[in-house]
Amino acid sequence: MADYVEEVRQEILLPAETIQARVTELGRQISSDYRGRHVFLVGVLKGAWVFLADLARNLTVPASFDFMSVSSYGSATKTSGVVQILKDLEESIEGRDVIIVEDIVDTGLTLSYLVSLLQTRKPASLRVCVLLDKSSRRTTAVPLDYVGFEIPDAFVVGYGLDYSGRYRNVPYIFTLRPEVYS
Ligand code: PRP
Repeated sequence: MADYVEEVRQEILLPAETIQARVTELGRQISSDYRGRHVFLVGVLKGAWVFLADLARNLTVPASFDFMSVSSYGSATKTSGVVQILKDLEESIEGRDVIIVEDIVDTGLTLSYLVSLLQTRKPASLRVCVLLDKSSRRTTAVPLDYVGFEIPDAFVVGYGLDYSGRYRNVPYIFTLRPEVYS
């Protein structure tokens, strides 16, 4: 990996091979659970695009995709419990088998809001697939149907997760040296 990453990296939490093996398993499990059906995956921008791209290529059932974008982490609206939709779905999900795909669930605010919102649109079914579960941070309960990894309460980046817009394209998940963000 490039020097610019080694300069800021503290510890590799999840190596690329570990992530790929788990994403392959999740793809198999979802393909088995949805056998004979057509899944509609909703990616939550921006963090989920890397995970969604790999997960999608491990599905053996027909799949379609759409994306949503919600207010960014730490914004005033979010801490107040209100999640703002910046980009909505372009297609109707009524009668479809929907899976929301997220990179990480932290407080649970974003996902609980999205689940409630999408339920009102009458999908045939609605499930949630997250790569990382930081369950020690949860303030709002949210049902998770597929989870890649349980992780500790550390600030992690890579594989879709960013610090100041960077490191999303690093193929593994790592922590930053504290001096980078303090
Ligand atoms: C992250 C993640 C979730 C949310 C989880 O997004 O992708 O959407 O935070 O946090 P919560 O459980 O406390 O609601 P972020 O706001 O960092 O935006 P990004 O995906 O565009 O980086």
